Amino acid sequence: MPSTVSAGGLTTGHAPFVEEARTRGELFIHQAYEQYSDENQEAWRKLYARIRTRWARYANDQFLQGVEALRLPADHIPHLSEINQRLQPLTGFQAKAVSGYVPGFLFFDCLRRREFPTTITIRLAERMDYLPEPDIFHDLAGHVPMHTSKAFADTLVRFGDCAHTAARMTADIRDEAERARRLTSIIRALSRFFWFTVEFGLMRGRDGIRAYGSGLMSSYGELRHAIESDEVQRYPLQLEWVINQGAEIDHYQPLLFLVDSFDHLFDLVDKLEQWMLAGKLFHVAPGLPEVNPGDLRTFMDAGKLD
Ligand SMILES: [Fe+2]
Repeated sequence: MPSTVSAGGLTTGHAPFVEEARTRGELFIHQAYEQYSDENQEAWRKLYARIRTRWARYANDQFLQGVEALRLPADHIPHLSEINQRLQPLTGFQAKAVSGYVPGFLFFDCLRRREFPTTITIRLAERMDYLPEPDIFHDLAGHVPMHTSKAFADTLVRFGDCAHTAARMTADIRDEAERARRLTSIIRALSRFFWFTVEFGLMRGRDGIRAYGSGLMSSYGELRHAIESDEVQRYPLQLEWVINQGAEIDHYQPLLFLVDSFDHLFDLVDKLEQWMLAGKLFHVAPGLPEVNPGDLRTFMDAGKLD
Protein backbone atom coordinates (compact mmCIF):
# COMPACT_ATOMS: atom_id res chain seq x y z
CA MET A 1 0.00 0.00 0.00
CA PRO A 2 1.45 3.40 -0.89
CA SER A 3 2.47 5.61 1.99
CA THR A 4 0.17 8.54 2.61
CA VAL A 5 2.13 10.44 5.25
CA SER A 6 5.22 12.37 4.29
CA ALA A 7 7.70 14.35 6.29
CA GLY A 8 8.05 16.70 3.32
CA GLY A 9 4.43 17.78 3.52
CA LEU A 10 2.84 19.09 0.33
CA THR A 11 5.70 21.11 -1.07
CA THR A 12 5.80 21.71 -4.83
CA GLY A 13 8.10 19.11 -6.34
CA HIS A 14 8.37 17.18 -3.06
CA ALA A 15 4.92 15.81 -2.32
CA PRO A 16 4.79 12.00 -2.37
CA PHE A 17 1.01 12.02 -1.82
CA VAL A 18 0.53 13.93 -5.06
CA GLU A 19 3.24 12.11 -7.00
CA GLU A 20 1.77 8.74 -6.06
CA ALA A 21 -1.68 9.82 -7.20
CA ARG A 22 -0.18 10.90 -10.51
CA THR A 23 1.59 7.56 -10.87
CA ARG A 24 -1.76 5.82 -10.37
CA GLY A 25 -3.25 8.02 -13.10
CA GLU A 26 -5.51 9.90 -10.67
CA LEU A 27 -5.99 13.46 -11.82
CA PHE A 28 -8.69 14.50 -9.38
CA ILE A 29 -7.66 13.98 -5.77
CA HIS A 30 -8.58 15.26 -2.30
CA GLN A 31 -6.71 18.01 -0.53
CA ALA A 32 -5.15 15.73 2.16
CA TYR A 33 -5.05 18.77 4.40
CA GLU A 34 -3.41 17.00 7.35
CA GLN A 35 -0.29 16.55 5.26
CA TYR A 36 0.63 20.23 5.13
CA SER A 37 3.80 20.72 7.17
CA ASP A 38 4.50 23.67 9.47
CA GLU A 39 6.79 24.98 6.76
CA ASN A 40 3.97 24.79 4.21
CA GLN A 41 1.67 26.78 6.51
CA GLU A 42 4.42 29.30 7.12
CA ALA A 43 4.91 29.72 3.35
CA TRP A 44 1.21 30.60 2.95
CA ARG A 45 1.30 33.07 5.89
CA LYS A 46 4.32 34.85 4.45
CA LEU A 47 3.02 34.96 0.89
CA TYR A 48 -0.38 36.18 2.02
CA ALA A 49 0.89 38.83 4.46
CA ARG A 50 3.21 40.25 1.83
CA ILE A 51 0.74 40.48 -1.02
CA ARG A 52 -2.20 42.04 0.87
CA THR A 53 -0.87 45.58 0.61
CA ARG A 54 -0.15 45.13 -3.09
CA TRP A 55 -3.67 43.84 -3.73
CA ALA A 56 -5.18 46.85 -2.01
CA ARG A 57 -3.28 49.12 -4.34
CA TYR A 58 -3.27 47.25 -7.64
CA ALA A 59 -6.07 44.67 -7.73
CA ASN A 60 -9.34 45.13 -9.56
CA ASP A 61 -12.44 45.78 -7.37
CA GLN A 62 -14.03 42.46 -8.30
CA PHE A 63 -10.94 40.63 -7.12
CA LEU A 64 -10.89 42.50 -3.79
CA GLN A 65 -14.57 41.77 -3.26
CA GLY A 66 -13.85 38.13 -4.04
CA VAL A 67 -11.15 37.93 -1.37
CA GLU A 68 -13.67 39.29 1.16
CA ALA A 69 -16.51 37.05 0.02
CA LEU A 70 -14.35 33.92 0.25
CA ARG A 71 -12.80 35.05 3.54
CA LEU A 72 -9.40 33.83 2.44
CA PRO A 73 -7.50 33.07 5.66
CA ALA A 74 -4.26 34.91 6.40
CA ASP A 75 -2.98 32.45 8.99
CA HIS A 76 -3.37 29.05 7.32
CA ILE A 77 -3.70 27.38 3.94
CA PRO A 78 -7.39 27.47 2.98
CA HIS A 79 -9.51 24.33 3.10
CA LEU A 80 -10.94 23.91 -0.40
CA SER A 81 -14.22 22.67 1.08
CA GLU A 82 -14.70 25.91 3.04
CA ILE A 83 -13.84 28.09 0.06
CA ASN A 84 -16.29 26.15 -2.09
CA GLN A 85 -19.10 26.57 0.45
CA ARG A 86 -18.78 30.32 -0.04
CA LEU A 87 -18.00 30.29 -3.76
CA GLN A 88 -20.61 27.92 -5.11
CA PRO A 89 -23.70 29.92 -4.11
CA LEU A 90 -22.25 32.98 -5.87
CA THR A 91 -21.44 31.63 -9.34
CA GLY A 92 -21.60 27.83 -9.21
CA PHE A 93 -17.81 27.59 -9.50
CA GLN A 94 -15.81 25.14 -7.40
CA ALA A 95 -12.10 24.65 -6.82
CA LYS A 96 -11.24 20.97 -7.47
CA ALA A 97 -8.00 19.49 -6.19
CA VAL A 98 -5.80 18.01 -8.93
CA SER A 99 -2.53 16.08 -8.90
CA GLY A 100 -0.92 18.10 -11.68
CA TYR A 101 -1.31 19.50 -15.15
CA VAL A 102 -4.76 19.05 -16.66
CA PRO A 103 -4.22 18.55 -20.40
CA GLY A 104 -5.78 20.79 -23.02
CA PHE A 105 -9.35 19.87 -23.74
CA LEU A 106 -9.95 18.47 -20.25
CA PHE A 107 -8.99 21.80 -18.70
CA PHE A 108 -11.43 23.69 -20.92
CA ASP A 109 -14.11 21.14 -20.17
CA CYS A 110 -13.63 21.70 -16.42
CA LEU A 111 -14.22 25.42 -16.92
CA ARG A 112 -17.37 24.63 -18.86
CA ARG A 113 -18.62 22.63 -15.87
CA ARG A 114 -17.61 25.49 -13.52
CA GLU A 115 -14.84 23.43 -11.95
CA PHE A 116 -11.45 24.99 -11.55
CA PRO A 117 -8.51 22.54 -11.39
CA THR A 118 -6.57 23.58 -8.29
CA THR A 119 -3.05 22.59 -7.31
CA ILE A 120 -2.79 21.63 -3.63
CA THR A 121 0.98 21.85 -3.16
CA ILE A 122 2.72 25.06 -2.08
CA ARG A 123 6.10 26.52 -3.07
CA LEU A 124 9.07 26.44 -0.73
CA ALA A 125 9.10 29.42 1.64
CA GLU A 126 12.44 30.56 0.21
CA ARG A 127 11.03 30.65 -3.33
CA MET A 128 8.50 33.35 -2.67
CA ASP A 129 8.51 35.07 -6.02
CA TYR A 130 6.86 34.17 -9.27
CA LEU A 131 7.33 30.59 -10.37
CA PRO A 132 6.10 29.18 -13.68
CA GLU A 133 4.66 26.08 -12.04
CA PRO A 134 1.29 26.71 -10.38
CA ASP A 135 0.84 26.09 -6.68
CA ILE A 136 -2.07 26.59 -4.29
CA PHE A 137 -1.13 30.21 -3.75
CA HIS A 138 -1.31 30.91 -7.47
CA ASP A 139 -4.50 28.90 -8.00
CA LEU A 140 -6.44 29.80 -4.87
CA ALA A 141 -5.21 33.30 -4.04
CA GLY A 142 -4.50 34.28 -7.68
CA HIS A 143 -7.41 32.75 -9.63
CA VAL A 144 -10.30 31.83 -7.36
CA PRO A 145 -11.25 35.31 -6.01
CA MET A 146 -12.21 36.28 -9.60
CA HIS A 147 -14.56 33.29 -9.77
CA THR A 148 -16.91 35.08 -7.36
CA SER A 149 -17.75 37.55 -10.16
CA LYS A 150 -20.69 36.45 -12.28
CA ALA A 151 -19.42 38.24 -15.39
CA PHE A 152 -15.96 36.72 -15.06
CA ALA A 153 -17.29 33.24 -14.25
CA ASP A 154 -19.57 33.35 -17.31
CA THR A 155 -16.57 34.38 -19.42
CA LEU A 156 -14.60 31.34 -18.26
CA VAL A 157 -17.50 29.05 -19.11
CA ARG A 158 -17.76 30.66 -22.54
CA PHE A 159 -14.04 30.11 -22.99
CA GLY A 160 -14.52 26.46 -22.05
CA ASP A 161 -17.15 26.23 -24.82
CA CYS A 162 -14.51 27.28 -27.36
CA ALA A 163 -12.67 23.97 -26.92
CA HIS A 164 -15.80 22.02 -27.81
CA THR A 165 -16.29 24.21 -30.86
CA ALA A 166 -12.69 23.57 -31.91
CA ALA A 167 -13.01 19.81 -31.54
CA ARG A 168 -16.37 19.71 -33.31
CA MET A 169 -15.45 21.88 -36.26
CA THR A 170 -12.29 19.89 -37.05
CA ALA A 171 -13.79 16.43 -36.44
CA ASP A 172 -14.67 15.85 -40.09
CA ILE A 173 -11.27 16.63 -41.57
CA ARG A 174 -10.18 13.32 -43.09
CA ASP A 175 -6.51 14.18 -43.44
CA GLU A 176 -5.20 13.55 -39.90
CA ALA A 177 -2.06 15.65 -40.41
CA GLU A 178 -4.08 18.61 -41.63
CA ARG A 179 -6.51 18.20 -38.76
CA ALA A 180 -3.63 18.16 -36.27
CA ARG A 181 -2.11 21.23 -37.90
CA ARG A 182 -5.31 23.24 -37.71
CA LEU A 183 -6.02 22.18 -34.14
CA THR A 184 -2.47 23.05 -33.10
CA SER A 185 -2.96 26.55 -34.44
CA ILE A 186 -6.33 26.92 -32.68
CA ILE A 187 -4.92 25.64 -29.37
CA ARG A 188 -2.02 28.09 -29.65
CA ALA A 189 -4.47 30.95 -30.22
CA LEU A 190 -6.67 29.91 -27.28
CA SER A 191 -3.63 29.54 -25.01
CA ARG A 192 -2.37 33.00 -25.93
CA PHE A 193 -5.77 34.54 -25.30
CA PHE A 194 -5.98 32.84 -21.89
CA TRP A 195 -2.44 33.91 -21.05
CA PHE A 196 -2.96 37.61 -21.84
CA THR A 197 -6.35 37.82 -20.10
CA VAL A 198 -7.04 35.30 -17.32
CA GLU A 199 -3.37 34.99 -16.35
CA PHE A 200 -1.97 38.48 -17.02
CA GLY A 201 -4.91 40.75 -17.78
CA LEU A 202 -5.15 44.43 -16.89
CA MET A 203 -8.26 46.60 -16.79
CA ARG A 204 -8.92 50.30 -16.66
CA GLY A 205 -10.51 51.14 -13.30
CA ARG A 206 -11.90 54.19 -11.51
CA ASP A 207 -8.40 55.29 -10.49
CA GLY A 208 -6.23 54.10 -13.35
CA ILE A 209 -5.03 50.66 -14.38
CA ARG A 210 -5.68 47.68 -12.14
CA ALA A 211 -4.90 44.00 -12.56
CA TYR A 212 -7.20 40.99 -12.68
CA GLY A 213 -4.86 38.30 -14.07
CA SER A 214 -3.93 35.54 -11.63
CA GLY A 215 -0.24 35.44 -12.62
CA LEU A 216 -0.01 39.04 -11.46
CA MET A 217 -2.24 38.60 -8.43
CA SER A 218 -0.03 35.81 -7.07
CA SER A 219 3.28 37.58 -7.68
CA TYR A 220 4.36 40.24 -5.21
CA GLY A 221 7.08 41.53 -7.52
CA GLU A 222 5.34 41.38 -10.87
CA LEU A 223 2.03 42.89 -9.71
CA ARG A 224 3.63 46.26 -9.05
CA HIS A 225 5.96 45.97 -12.03
CA ALA A 226 3.02 45.31 -14.36
CA ILE A 227 1.32 48.54 -13.36
CA GLU A 228 4.13 50.90 -12.41
CA SER A 229 7.13 50.01 -14.57
CA ASP A 230 7.93 51.95 -17.73
CA GLU A 231 9.52 48.75 -19.08
CA VAL A 232 6.04 47.34 -19.66
CA GLN A 233 4.01 48.16 -22.78
CA ARG A 234 0.27 48.29 -22.09
CA TYR A 235 -2.21 48.36 -24.95
CA PRO A 236 -5.95 47.95 -25.40
CA LEU A 237 -6.60 44.30 -26.20
CA GLN A 238 -6.93 43.63 -29.92
CA LEU A 239 -7.87 40.08 -30.76
CA GLU A 240 -5.72 39.89 -33.91
CA TRP A 241 -2.70 40.93 -31.88
CA VAL A 242 -3.20 38.66 -28.89
CA ILE A 243 -3.73 35.46 -30.87
CA ASN A 244 -0.50 36.09 -32.79
CA GLN A 245 1.62 37.25 -29.89
CA GLY A 246 4.18 34.81 -28.44
CA ALA A 247 3.76 34.23 -24.69
CA GLU A 248 6.98 33.84 -22.72
CA ILE A 249 6.73 32.47 -19.25
CA ASP A 250 10.18 32.70 -17.70
CA HIS A 251 10.43 36.43 -16.93
CA TYR A 252 8.25 39.43 -16.14
CA GLN A 253 5.90 40.21 -19.00
CA PRO A 254 7.08 43.11 -21.17
CA LEU A 255 3.72 43.46 -22.94
CA LEU A 256 0.28 43.43 -21.34
CA PHE A 257 -3.24 44.06 -22.62
CA LEU A 258 -6.11 46.10 -21.20
CA VAL A 259 -9.83 45.42 -21.31
CA ASP A 260 -12.55 47.90 -20.34
CA SER A 261 -14.75 45.56 -18.31
CA PHE A 262 -15.63 41.90 -17.83
CA ASP A 263 -18.53 42.33 -20.24
CA HIS A 264 -15.95 43.48 -22.76
CA LEU A 265 -13.88 40.36 -22.01
CA PHE A 266 -16.95 38.17 -22.50
CA ASP A 267 -17.59 39.79 -25.90
CA LEU A 268 -13.98 39.16 -26.87
CA VAL A 269 -14.37 35.45 -26.13
CA ASP A 270 -17.50 35.44 -28.30
CA LYS A 271 -15.54 37.07 -31.08
CA LEU A 272 -12.73 34.56 -30.61
CA GLU A 273 -15.20 31.74 -31.22
CA GLN A 274 -16.64 33.46 -34.28
CA TRP A 275 -13.16 33.87 -35.72
CA MET A 276 -12.46 30.22 -35.01
CA LEU A 277 -15.61 29.18 -36.87
CA ALA A 278 -14.66 31.44 -39.78
CA GLY A 279 -11.29 29.65 -40.03
CA LYS A 280 -9.29 32.67 -38.87
CA LEU A 281 -7.39 30.73 -36.20
CA PHE A 282 -6.01 28.08 -38.57
CA HIS A 283 -2.84 30.02 -39.33
CA VAL A 284 -1.79 32.04 -36.30
CA ALA A 285 1.85 33.11 -36.03
CA PRO A 286 4.17 30.27 -34.97
CA GLY A 287 6.03 30.54 -31.68
CA LEU A 288 5.26 30.21 -28.01
CA PRO A 289 3.55 28.53 -26.43
CA GLU A 290 4.54 25.16 -27.80
CA VAL A 291 1.50 22.92 -28.16
CA ASN A 292 2.47 19.59 -26.64
CA PRO A 293 1.33 16.31 -28.20
CA GLY A 294 -0.65 15.36 -25.08
CA ASP A 295 -2.75 18.53 -25.28
CA LEU A 296 -3.34 18.05 -29.01
CA ARG A 297 -4.36 14.42 -28.46
CA THR A 298 -7.13 15.43 -26.02
CA PHE A 299 -8.66 17.71 -28.69
CA MET A 300 -8.36 15.04 -31.40
CA ASP A 301 -10.05 12.47 -29.14
CA ALA A 302 -12.78 14.88 -28.07
CA GLY A 303 -13.68 15.50 -31.71
CA LYS A 304 -14.36 11.80 -32.18
CA LEU A 305 -16.67 11.67 -29.15
CA ASP A 306 -18.64 14.89 -29.70
FE1 LIG B 1 -2.89 30.16 -13.66
